[in-house]
Amino acid sequence: MVIFLNFRQKLGLLKHYGSHKLFHNDLPKISNLYAKQMGNSTKDAATMISEHANRLEISIPRWPSSLNFSYVWLRDHCRCDACFRKDTFQRQNDILSLPLKIRPTYLSHNEKELHIQWPDGHFSKFDFQFLWENSFEGKKHSKNIIKPLTWNRNSFPSFDQIKVPPTVEATRETVEVICPISKTIYGEMWELQADLGMSDTAYTDEYLGSHTDTTYFSEPSRIQVFHCLKQASEGGESLYVDGFHIGEKLYNEDPACYEYLSTTALPGEYRKDGHHFVNVYRIFTHHPVSKKLMQFRCNDFDRAPLSTIPYHEVDKFYMNFQKLVKMLRDQRNEVEILLQPGQVAFIDNWRVTHGRKSFRGTRVLGGCYLGNSDFLSKARVHGLKFE
Ligand SMILES: [Fe+2]
Ligand SMILES: [Zn+2]
Repeated sequence: MVIFLNFRQKLGLLKHYGSHKLFHNDLPKISNLYAKQMGNSTKDAATMISEHANRLEISIPRWPSSLNFSYVWLRDHCRCDACFRKDTFQRQNDILSLPLKIRPTYLSHNEKELHIQWPDGHFSKFDFQFLWENSFEGKKHSKNIIKPLTWNRNSFPSFDQIKVPPTVEATRETVEVICPISKTIYGEMWELQADLGMSDTAYTDEYLGSHTDTTYFSEPSRIQVFHCLKQASEGGESLYVDGFHIGEKLYNEDPACYEYLSTTALPGEYRKDGHHFVNVYRIFTHHPVSKKLMQFRCNDFDRAPLSTIPYHEVDKFYMNFQKLVKMLRDQRNEVEILLQPGQVAFIDNWRVTHGRKSFRGTRVLGGCYLGNSDFLSKARVHGLKFE
């Protein structure tokens, strides 16, 4: 249940459905603002540009530290009309024409911009805002000041909600305000109710342990939407666990176990009706640059035969995996929500697990998935930080 308040406003959901419940803002907004302001070097009289052998060092009082740019990077990032198409945001220069040993012949700057003259007469100017936002050091700093707030049963934050008519069409209309619905083997919209003819545990009325979905896809679905269409006569509460909280807890209590589950790969599988998906993944995935936890994947039902680990490491795998699943099933980490007909839950499937308590009667859920790229694209457009 991990999307943002201002997302709702910006996307006009309020206009569509009134002020009900849906999104929760779990990142400190102040940090986002702070990150933006850093780049605004509007009236800094004390901007310092120092020329070194292979780099320029720029310091602006409001930046937390000076930034370094190699000359070849600067030449590559020229944003003039000959080098870059501003309408399509695409480069016009061929990488092979980039001189690796280039140095400026002349440098100057004003309050807003850095100006560079190159040996062949080419002229580049760079907005300091652009340099801040796109430098390695600037990006690293922005990422460091944003920390997701993790939660458990006792610290689950309050969230706003939106209520829509309990129909599949209404779910679709709500979701499509955000981004296109993914078309998977389950179709675009699915409807789930107890059906003992189906082989999947999800379709029974039994307790369903907390898990993330589509671990067998090379890129798991990002947002999972659940819309309660009909509530069970008894039971059927949804169970959610914050995988980032589990990660944090495991890292603090047993760093070796966290390390093992971050580096050891296991296979997931889905095999049915002419489909056979297999994917080898790690339970905790980290960002390749910032190294921060980026994705949590865990599904005991869809584990494929364990062919990724040699026999002498197998004991270690089961020990660590059991430790993790115990934490996932610990009620202190689990948030229980009884969805009411018409309520829509948006779950970040790269972070939050879902499950359900057993129930009696007919319980019908509608839902769909949103892909990671489509969702993040919209999040970026609306200034939300997920990465
Ligand atoms: Fe599921
Ligand atoms: Zn240029």
